[in-house]
Amino acid sequence: FQMSAYRKIQVHTLSSNFREATHIVEAEHRELKRDEVLLKNIWVGINASDINYTAGHYRPGLSPPFDAGFEAISKVERCGEGVKHLKEGEIVVSTSFSAFGEYQYLKASRCVPVPQLTPGMLPLIVSGLTASLSLEFVGRMSSNETVLVTAAAGATGSFAVQLAKLNGNHVIGTCSSDEKGRFLTQLGCDRVVNYRKEKLGDVLKREYPKGVDLVYECVGGDMYDTCVQNLAVKGRIVVIGMISGYEDQSTWANKNPA
Ligand SMILES: NC(=O)c1ccc[n+]([C@@H]2O[C@H](COP(=O)([O-])OP(=O)(O)OC[C@H]3O[C@@H](n4cnc5c(N)ncnc54)[C@H](OP(=O)(O)O)[C@@H]3O)[C@@H](O)[C@H]2O)c1
Repeated sequence: FQMSAYRKIQVHTLSSNFREATHIVEAEHRELKRDEVLLKNIWVGINASDINYTAGHYRPGLSPPFDAGFEAISKVERCGEGVKHLKEGEIVVSTSFSAFGEYQYLKASRCVPVPQLTPGMLPLIVSGLTASLSLEFVGRMSSNETVLVTAAAGATGSFAVQLAKLNGNHVIGTCSSDEKGRFLTQLGCDRVVNYRKEKLGDVLKREYPKGVDLVYECVGGDMYDTCVQNLAVKGRIVVIGMISGYEDQSTWANKNPA
């Protein structure tokens, strides 16, 4: 292993426009701390939330320059002296705030070994865990209920659909195209709503007059309002995100009045 410089993406200006917020910089390799590993990133995951991060919403008070990127699948290049559960050459997935680089220095405790170097492992610990923790613990997911997932064909939505189905629920998923609709049917969705062809509110009023028991809501804005208006008695809505307002920052408008 050669101690030369490596490239990473760094935020230099707070903005939800990723291209305007970031640039590529060279970083110097350094000594490892006892509990750290040096990872050579092979694939990184790009998330909707990345532009909230570059805009400074996730870690208020943090000012540029700072690194970006939440998830990576990587090869362990070197281990600090105190690292017990990982070894050099192993493949790991990790969550961090510095995944968008050729290498990253990370606490070993943030890394989970995986059996294969395949990008399919990448979304498990961010998108997959988000779905599982949110449905099971926050949403108190049960069986034989009606579960609605918005942005269902997206990264975390597609996990939510599968988990809700595996738990024995009737699953409704929203998406914007027939192609995504077919994907959702394959995942086990019982009712796909392509919102460009049908109005979700009309479908719910007509086909689910008792309302929806649990909503995994990713979109915000009008979609959120429709979900709230169609909740069943004792229904739960878990707000996962508000992607419809990220680009124009309307999601954050109340926090940052003009
Ligand atoms: N991935 C995670 O682990 C995670 C963790 C915490 C929170 N979240 C939140 O969950 C939501 C979805 O994230 P994701 O990672 O699953 O995203 P993703 O894979 O990029 O999927 C997002 C989907 O949202 C839908 N969408 C609806 N309205 C949109 C709009 N106005 N602009 C852009 N997309 C729109 C699109 O699907 P259609 O074309 O079918 O509408 C799009 O494909 C976000 O709010 C995110 O902040 C995600």
